[in-house]
Amino acid sequence: MRLISARLSAKRRSPLAGLVVLLLGLLLTGGAYAVLAPANAQTDPADQSTIAKGRSLFLVGCASCHGANGEGIVTKNGTQYGPPLAGVGAAAVDFQVGTGRMPMARPGVQAARKKVVYTPDEIEALAAYVASLGPGPAIPERDAYDPSTIPEDERNEAIVRGGQFFETNCTACHNFAASGGALPGGKFAPSLRGVSNRHIYEAMLTGPQQMPVFSDGVLKSSEKRDIIAYLNSIEEAPNYGGATLGSLGPVSEGLFAWIVGIGACVGFAIWIASSSVRSKKGIKA
Ligand code: HEC
Ligand code: HEC
Repeated sequence: MRLISARLSAKRRSPLAGLVVLLLGLLLTGGAYAVLAPANAQTDPADQSTIAKGRSLFLVGCASCHGANGEGIVTKNGTQYGPPLAGVGAAAVDFQVGTGRMPMARPGVQAARKKVVYTPDEIEALAAYVASLGPGPAIPERDAYDPSTIPEDERNEAIVRGGQFFETNCTACHNFAASGGALPGGKFAPSLRGVSNRHIYEAMLTGPQQMPVFSDGVLKSSEKRDIIAYLNSIEEAPNYGGATLGSLGPVSEGLFAWIVGIGACVGFAIWIASSSVRSKKGIKA
């Protein structure tokens, strides 16, 4: 090191010195990044044959919108057929294809949940291929998302904590009873009932569409699992009386009052009018 700096200072006047320093700096930061880059950003290196299988599936089913190398395709008027996929990670593919959102049938406002087209093996291959395009969140391990790995005597606490996390982070879009809600521009946050634990975790990890990404810096992995425990618990919970009306809150309750309440009044009024003595007299006369 001393040798290098001695030489550098000797040649400092040379116009090349600046360039040499710059190159050295770049080399050092590059090397340091390679050593220090966060390990969890890297998905497990899948074997080449899985990636190759994923690539051939991708070329058939996905490339028409996402490009032959997942680089994304832009339409003439600047909107996307499909966004670039480098760096979205295996978790995003497992979520999008595993919930049937992808392959999207036709471009629209929002890809909807539908019947899953690929087998689990094919989804794994597609995920491995997309993960090979750039580092992104990996498919989570079972004990990250499965609330049954929480010890029995701590489970109720976890559900309570999860409910609080859910209230602060999710109810704005998904409604207090997780039954979903509308968003501007014809988009919507779907109901969270009947979604598998792994897909709930992956949705938080990858933030599909309008949904924010809840990386581990925002919500720790155990906090995400608490939310899943809470969501499972409200799905199992019995209904305490009355019709839920889809648990949509004032909108459906108001609608119910209007249609059923006022409808009953109008119906009653018609009935009185048509069966009263006077109206019968009127008809006879
Ligand atoms: C008809 C066009 C179309 C096809 C076919 C299609 N996609 Fe997509 N894809 C989109 C659009 C548009 C979006 C972004 C909108 C959305 O998420 O609703 C998207 C989003 C995604 C995302 C989420 C990206 C992110 O930022 O999180 C993934 C992952 C993905 N697609 C994977 C696939 C895979 C894998 C296939 C093939 C099995 C596929 N797509 C087929 C149009 C398409
Ligand atoms: C800014 C609004 C917003 C917030 C906040 C939000 N989400 Fe979402 N979420 C969405 C939208 C929009 C979608 C649908 C994305 C799509 O279809 O591509 C979605 C989809 C999901 C899905 C997938 C459901 C399915 O049918 O497959 C899950 C699970 C989910 N969100 C869970 C959560 C959880 C848990 C939180 C809180 C930690 C949260 N969301 C916070 C907007 C939001």
